[in-house]
Amino acid sequence: MSYVRDAWYVVAWSKDLARERPFAISVMNEPIVVWRSQSGALAAFEDRCIHRLAPLSLGRCEGERLRCMYHGFLYDRAGHVIDIPGENRIPSKMRLRTYPVTERHGWVWIWMGASDAADEGLIPPVIGTDDPEYVLGTGQLDYAAGARLVNENLLDLSHVRFLHAGSIPMSAMWPQEAPEFTRNERSVRTEWWLRNTLCGGSGESPGTRCDFYSCSDFYVPGILIVKDKLFAVGAANSPGPTDADLARPFTVVNHAVTPLSDRRTRYFYSTGPHRDYGDGMERKRDILLEIAERAFAEDRAMIEGQQGIIDSLPRRRFNPTSNDRGVLLFNEIVEKLTDAQTTQ
Ligand code: FES
Ligand SMILES: [Fe+2]
Repeated sequence: MSYVRDAWYVVAWSKDLARERPFAISVMNEPIVVWRSQSGALAAFEDRCIHRLAPLSLGRCEGERLRCMYHGFLYDRAGHVIDIPGENRIPSKMRLRTYPVTERHGWVWIWMGASDAADEGLIPPVIGTDDPEYVLGTGQLDYAAGARLVNENLLDLSHVRFLHAGSIPMSAMWPQEAPEFTRNERSVRTEWWLRNTLCGGSGESPGTRCDFYSCSDFYVPGILIVKDKLFAVGAANSPGPTDADLARPFTVVNHAVTPLSDRRTRYFYSTGPHRDYGDGMERKRDILLEIAERAFAEDRAMIEGQQGIIDSLPRRRFNPTSNDRGVLLFNEIVEKLTDAQTTQ
């Protein structure tokens, strides 16, 4: 399995990472412990004590330090061993691998490439749970399937009409017009229009019609930001909306796909409306979250089934159609970035 290492991966919601409570996760098969010190500072280590490989996630925070609770090795936040009970001398090479870690948009992100290549400018522009303009609900679930299949599900939304026929209200209208795909340096944009449709739930008076626009930006390594916006009828015939037009979308959905291992994936999501579109935004958020939860359960059942078939028929190949254009463009970006990355 090839992964982009030079990228930021979501490992937790900021709100879920309590002080002095080490948290275990794996990313790309690597066990990692993420911990928040007594002062609130974050650190991420490989989750194995250098003494006898016990998990540090079973360790104890001591102020700004983390102690292995097997035989008591003590580590500072840079991963240096600073105390070995019963020993006077500590070899200076006794140091753990650490990962750059940061918090942004309500998520905790880890950089999986070489530390000196970590660039916080590469964190995708997710609409965060800390953004006061939106009313977002959140959730997460694990898939018994590889991240590639989850990413590909999100890059080819032609599945919505069939897989989500019973859960997403507009699913039947979804593919009436072919989407447009644009490849950027680290993302693929997918845009589609639904012309002259009813502007349900937008605060407009009943019966008002609009052109509905949906824009999905799928960033490396697996971050999807979907913005839906309503425009006056006829807007779909003019050149596509600019990023400025996309400010204040009616609703947003943020997704983060993290490969725990080659066959396990953690999926984080948030969704909700912008505050500017009428009253009752908390109620709208709850409805959107309910729809998302039903749809993601359908995705999970299908993707886990697909992974099972792929594993039992490893020589069978996919047969892409024009709907797979976004998948192909994204895989090209992944290939380019994995060839150029700082560590393999
Ligand atoms: S395994 Fe951690 S101190 Fe022995
Ligand atoms: Fe789906």
